[in-house]
Amino acid sequence: MSKLLTKMMPKEWGFATQAIHGDGIKVEGGIGSLVPPIYQTSTFVFESVEQGANRFSGLEEGYVYTRLGNPTVQLLEQKIALLEGADSALAFGSGMAAISAVLMGIVRTGDHILCSRSLYGCTFGLLKLMEERYQVEVSLIEMTDEEEVRKAIRPNTTLIYLETPANPTMELIDLAMVSKVAKETGIYTAVDNTFLSPYLQRPIEYGCDIVIHSATKYIGGHGDVVAGVIAGSHDMMKQIQMTTQKDLGGILAPMDAFLLLRGLKTLALRMEQHNGSAQLVAEFLESHPFVSRVYYPGLPSFPQHELAKKQMKGFGGIIAFELTGGYEAAVHMLNRLNLCRLAVSLGDVDTLIQHPASMTHSIVPQEERWKMGISDGLVRLSVGIEEVEDIIEDLRQAMER
Ligand SMILES: Cc1ncc(COP(=O)(O)O)c(C=O)c1O
Repeated sequence: MSKLLTKMMPKEWGFATQAIHGDGIKVEGGIGSLVPPIYQTSTFVFESVEQGANRFSGLEEGYVYTRLGNPTVQLLEQKIALLEGADSALAFGSGMAAISAVLMGIVRTGDHILCSRSLYGCTFGLLKLMEERYQVEVSLIEMTDEEEVRKAIRPNTTLIYLETPANPTMELIDLAMVSKVAKETGIYTAVDNTFLSPYLQRPIEYGCDIVIHSATKYIGGHGDVVAGVIAGSHDMMKQIQMTTQKDLGGILAPMDAFLLLRGLKTLALRMEQHNGSAQLVAEFLESHPFVSRVYYPGLPSFPQHELAKKQMKGFGGIIAFELTGGYEAAVHMLNRLNLCRLAVSLGDVDTLIQHPASMTHSIVPQEERWKMGISDGLVRLSVGIEEVEDIIEDLRQAMER
């Protein structure tokens, strides 16, 4: 951290307080603005050749060039590390830039990555690319049973990569179980925590090594920025920063870091509202005769409801469901919504709804999609923070019309 920024933050602060004040950072020599400035600069001027050389060699702390570090982006990284309970964090220009920096920063040709079977479509696409072009072995398994996880580990497995809850099936994976198996065998664990945010789940507390977010989602929360973050040990973050972040270059712009810092201030409040509303929407859907199946961890009928209670602080804002009329009924309903917006992405204050088979997961071949549990009629709903009665009424009229 540069001398420009100083830390002063009581460790005992609760999550919502940390999310507002927790960067604990005061900009030295500033004019006392409540909100940190946006350092909208590509580069930083050196006072002398010697200073420039010392900054490059690491003898002197300080900024050099925004791809190598920027004060506004660092404020965000420090706050993410704090909220995830990690030593350190890095910010990227998208969730996929974060995921590719992790996968390509850790895995080498000939290594094996063990993945959970339900993954975000583009993560699946990147893994296929690594398999085809860089001779990385990839296998996708259910990851619910400890013995199955142990059996799937190969001598060349270097990384276990998972999403919990999975996109879009909401399938859960026991973080303590997987990280225990991984630690025993000396394998890293990376968890995509996008669906819950650090407010509802903190994988590092369960022994996982790296946490990843599409910050485009709950961390930003307002649908106005595309970004990604990762958090983990100081050594791991340094390794990724000096290789795949610096050299692939998928960094976050200072203005976008500012928007995410603003989004984080209301994260706790928004997540409480998402949780409460999604529970009511899921109960409504489950009781509706046109709905054949609802996947929401907060429902007692959800097969992993007990695991959800154990490792998540709340059940989140995402629901997947199937209509009795299958694909045709889903299309009919989606085309008749008024309030819920037909759009990919999730975690926004607006309610968003989409059809994974033709949208986010269309890149995944149909057979693989079915193995992931994504039927052609499955609909994914990201419940926003509007009046919950209005959301329910919109879904009702679209299904019944
Ligand atoms: C679970 C999950 N991970 C990663 C991503 C990729 O994030 P981004 O769109 O910010 O690149 C998404 C995007 O929808 C996602 O849902």
